[in-house]
Amino acid sequence: MAGELLGQVVIVTGAGRGIGRAVAGELAAAGARVVLVARTRADLARAAEEIGEDRATPVAGDVTDEATAAAAIARAQEWGGRLDAVVNNAGVGWRGATHEMPVDAWRRLMDVNLTGVFLFTRAALPVMVAQQRGHIVNIASGAGRAGMAGAAAYSASKFGVIGFTEAVGLEVRETGVKVSVVEPGSVQTTFSERAARWDWALQPDDVARVVRAVLATGPNVWIREAFVTPRGRARGRRPGRRRHRARPLARLPPPGTSRESGRRCSRRRSQERPWSQTTVPRNRPDRGRSRTSDGSA
Ligand SMILES: NC(=O)c1ccc[n+]([C@@H]2O[C@H](COP(=O)([O-])OP(=O)(O)OC[C@H]3O[C@@H](n4cnc5c(N)ncnc54)[C@H](OP(=O)(O)O)[C@@H]3O)[C@@H](O)[C@H]2O)c1
Repeated sequence: MAGELLGQVVIVTGAGRGIGRAVAGELAAAGARVVLVARTRADLARAAEEIGEDRATPVAGDVTDEATAAAAIARAQEWGGRLDAVVNNAGVGWRGATHEMPVDAWRRLMDVNLTGVFLFTRAALPVMVAQQRGHIVNIASGAGRAGMAGAAAYSASKFGVIGFTEAVGLEVRETGVKVSVVEPGSVQTTFSERAARWDWALQPDDVARVVRAVLATGPNVWIREAFVTPRGRARGRRPGRRRHRARPLARLPPPGTSRESGRRCSRRRSQERPWSQTTVPRNRPDRGRSRTSDGSA
């Protein structure tokens, strides 16, 4: 086995399927041994068997549980003899109108998408700082660069992952540890029923190759952020068509009607608009550039 990650030991969360499964396979192909974390034991067993049990080992658990992070670090050190990197990939989504989102669903999403990243980072950093080497790669989303209508909690969590990555990366910069974020646009996975139909989107292997490249850089190179989107747009999408129709918003007053009185009012004040059509101030060109145009998940 040869490869640019030869001998390294990497923890990948959410490795049972989708992007995480592809990342685990790609890193193993680059010579790494991988610790696979997810809740579904059958997915982990299948992934470990496919990758090769000398190259992959499962740790079943929830990333919101501190014990899962501790178990994954311990497994990396006992089974692999070292810890070189963590890929924080496990994540969940929620679509719908913000005012109809159950508080429990908000808390659960933040727990998985943001606290899970924190817990694995918190568990890995003492090891990495002590050895003055290591790399944490967090999987955010295009929805963490531009707010996505109908997915406010998800967007907020992914904005959080990007900010957390930047802050921790600067915090440990002088210790030899790197912290990076990969922000995929739409990827065809089982993340949602919609995502499973996106044959125009990125494939999990596309994202996996980016993660491999981010990890394979030399000691003096730090790729802080990689924003990766499908080259083209979804087939069949009409320009200007409203893309994020959160079903419950249909119960709000129709466009052009004031919420309080039901009277007609200006489009600017009353109409819900998807983020892709939001006006960008002319004096903030940087904001305009950061917007995704592909309905990223
Ligand atoms: N698909 C997209 O379009 C897209 C775009 C940009 C970013 N992303 C991000 O990429 C990451 C992976 O997405 P995906 O599309 O590959 O999703 P996916 O196909 O649904 O896979 C998610 C993986 O995470 C695991 N997971 C979920 N909750 C977990 C928890 N609480 N503890 C441990 N593992 C958990 C799942 O396994 P179990 O359910 O068995 O635990 C599964 O292995 C997510 O962070 C997502 O936000 C996705």
